[in-house]
Amino acid sequence: MSSTTREVVLGIGAGIAAYKSCDVLRRLQERGYCVTVVPTPSSLNFVGSATWEALSGRPVKTQVWQNVDEVPHISMADNTDFFLIAPATADLIARIAHGRADDLLSALILASDVPKLIVPAMHPKMWNNAATVDNVATLRARGFIVMEPDTGRLTGSDSGQGRFPETSAIIESFDAITGNLQDLKGKRLLITGGGTREPIDPVRFIGNSSSGKQARALALAALRRGATVHLIAAHMDTSGLGDVSITPVQTALEMGDVLNKEFAACDVLIMCAAVADARPVQQSTGKIKKSNLTSIQLQENPDLLAGLGTLKKDQIMIGFAAETSDLVESARSKLLAKGLDIIYVNDVSNGAIFGKDSTQGMILTRTHSDIALKEVSKDALANILLDHAVRQLG
Ligand code: CTP
Repeated sequence: MSSTTREVVLGIGAGIAAYKSCDVLRRLQERGYCVTVVPTPSSLNFVGSATWEALSGRPVKTQVWQNVDEVPHISMADNTDFFLIAPATADLIARIAHGRADDLLSALILASDVPKLIVPAMHPKMWNNAATVDNVATLRARGFIVMEPDTGRLTGSDSGQGRFPETSAIIESFDAITGNLQDLKGKRLLITGGGTREPIDPVRFIGNSSSGKQARALALAALRRGATVHLIAAHMDTSGLGDVSITPVQTALEMGDVLNKEFAACDVLIMCAAVADARPVQQSTGKIKKSNLTSIQLQENPDLLAGLGTLKKDQIMIGFAAETSDLVESARSKLLAKGLDIIYVNDVSNGAIFGKDSTQGMILTRTHSDIALKEVSKDALANILLDHAVRQLG
């Protein structure tokens, strides 16, 4: 990491959109980033080294064979805080996904574990090709943020999804990963996470497999974007959450009490916790002998979200669901029944997702078409959901 934490490598792939990255470079510099441009050798067919050197004010190299005594790919990688790869062609995405290191840019990416934003631009047939779809999924699962290309007119006469996004959208996404995006400043976010435990006796409980990793990712992303964050945490790791204020709870009823107190003052509620649907009618004060543990009588817990939905004023409410079948139908009916604005439904068939760093599923909103997400990191999903919340907050 550099001493300023603002050192950026702007990687340029061999697409015609390379010329649009001249503007991206300018905007990054205006925002105070120190930018080194690293083009792939073939991208120089579109924009030459002289242009990049003049605009960046820094030397431009494309291969690891220059200044070999300095081992440039390792020293540069160590000195870089963020990568922005724009445009990224199908070939460059494939090379990164496969861990190739056949030019300076791919070697740097392989030698560095700092946040990386990839901005694809290519023909829709290449973007939608199964090979590219899989490569993008691989990168997202490894924590790369891959923007969706825009839809519209392409270099030729045809159109579709594959256009290089607008500079402003690229800068906004980049600011989100660098922590410069403050679009939630002044907003209060209430987030629940983990899984409630409903005690049977002093040693046993009814619980679930929620790890709280998604709630952690949401709390940290919201904090970075300037929000005041209150996390109601049920049996999850709450270490290292900085300025997030944390209320630990055990049961669904305790979580409900804290929510009822805090909900009115929040701007966005994200109900990420797995709330137990039922609790034992009686909680034994002493440990129950196994010979007496033949059946447990249960009573339903209140639906916390549905209850808050009736109190909702201007708040944006985001719910989660975990389903194994009929994902969209089940999630849509929960969205409506619980008065939500947005719901993310995890596809948890085959035990996937719980405790993992990545997820796959669908985002459903009241006004927009459904978005399918194949293998995204929980960090990336957190920012995608916050983008939706920001849009709905207006
Ligand atoms: N939820 C809640 N209170 C409950 C149960 C769930 O607030 N008692 C919230 C969860 O935090 C989640 C959303 O409702 O954001 C959907 O949870 P889910 O368990 O998928 O739905 P349920 O309504 O419990 O329906 P079912 O378990 O029958 O699928």
